[in-house]
Amino acid sequence: MKSLGVHPYLFPMPCYMIGTYNEDGSVDEMMMAWGGICDNNMVALNLAANHKTVANIRRRKAFTLAIPSMSVLKESDYLGMVSANKVPDKFERCGLHAVKSELVDAPVVTEFPVTLECRLAEEHQMSYGLLMLGEIVDVKASESVLDERGKIDVSKLNTFLFDAMRNGYYAVGEKVGDAWKSGREFMKG
Ligand SMILES: Cc1cc2nc3c(=O)[nH]c(=O)nc-3n(C[C@H](O)[C@H](O)[C@H](O)COP(=O)(O)O)c2cc1C
Repeated sequence: MKSLGVHPYLFPMPCYMIGTYNEDGSVDEMMMAWGGICDNNMVALNLAANHKTVANIRRRKAFTLAIPSMSVLKESDYLGMVSANKVPDKFERCGLHAVKSELVDAPVVTEFPVTLECRLAEEHQMSYGLLMLGEIVDVKASESVLDERGKIDVSKLNTFLFDAMRNGYYAVGEKVGDAWKSGREFMKG
């Protein structure tokens, strides 16, 4: 095995979109790979403190966390490169659309198939940086990604993953096993 040094090398890494309102009510979205679920009703965001998103979350005590689909990969990547600190209308520029969440003071982008509506629960200055925790108050999903039982079918999401090693995005969707089931043969005896 070859030593590669210290790097944040895990795969898969998610591509999530964090949605907030700027002070003038315009929408900001940024891409986030370093975060995810940390309890049944909680998400964790690891954010650079200078992002506009951080100031927005602090002001409105809310944000949305969405799963983008490949149809808006270019827009999502752009939203991960450009800050609303420098380009206040970055969201309008990429042509996506948003409506206001009815439950939290944050936008729901209509092109993203799944959105978690979150209330800011906690903020912690960690040794490595800023950690913001959100309480999930509802999950919104577009009908097009639901199965016949009303569950989100990830093969319909057409989402993509982040490759931190070579800065790529990778498609995801093919089902290859059943959680808490595929390994059961080793439990016999
Ligand atoms: C693939 C990818 C993953 C990213 N992951 C994070 C992350 O986990 N945390 C973070 O603070 N910024 C992350 N960023 C950077 C922000 O999305 C970017 O700095 C953005 O412009 C911040 O926007 P804002 O200042 O309008 O909030 C990521 C960007 C990309 C392209």
